[in-house]
Amino acid sequence: MFLFPLCYAGILCFDLCFGIEAPVPGSPGDTLTREDKRMAYLVYHLLDSNGTIKGADIERGEGLFMRNCMPCHGDDGRRMNVSQDMRHPAYIGTRAKYDMPTFWHQMNFGDSTRGMLPYYDEIELRDMIDLAGFAQTLPAKPWSSTEKNQ
Ligand code: HEC
Repeated sequence: MFLFPLCYAGILCFDLCFGIEAPVPGSPGDTLTREDKRMAYLVYHLLDSNGTIKGADIERGEGLFMRNCMPCHGDDGRRMNVSQDMRHPAYIGTRAKYDMPTFWHQMNFGDSTRGMLPYYDEIELRDMIDLAGFAQTLPAKPWSSTEKNQ
């Protein structure tokens, strides 16, 4: 009679202490793809309830952006319209601000048909966080007539 709850508690304790670690990479229990893991990391560790990246060093991110992304996307991210729709343009700043999962997936895994490179193996996770944080400060809308020097 008493044994069952005791055993149960014992097993539960063991499970909580040793069972919650991620399965060994490559083992049968390791069923998540690297895409799954990267996207889950974004959702569980980086996004706050407003879809903003937590803990990014924006200044560092700016340097990384200028080195890695500016050559194609422009220094404010608006060189390329990524929406495929001329009437409703969107830039990487638009994605970063309103749709971080798309931004994060594209930065990590690219899109070979459209010519965006995968950076998963090139840029460290720490740097990606700073980059994503900086990208959320880029303009989300097209140039307006009140903006100068455009
Ligand atoms: C060699 C040029 C090049 C570089 C460098 C580059 N990109 Fe891109 N990127 C592209 C192209 C091309 C596309 C697809 C544009 C299209 O056709 O919509 C794209 C698309 C994207 C998109 C997809 C937006 C969407 O909504 O679909 C994101 C996000 C993005 N790039 C982020 C980045 C970031 C962050 C960096 C720097 C780490 C970067 N890119 C560097 C060329 C580049």
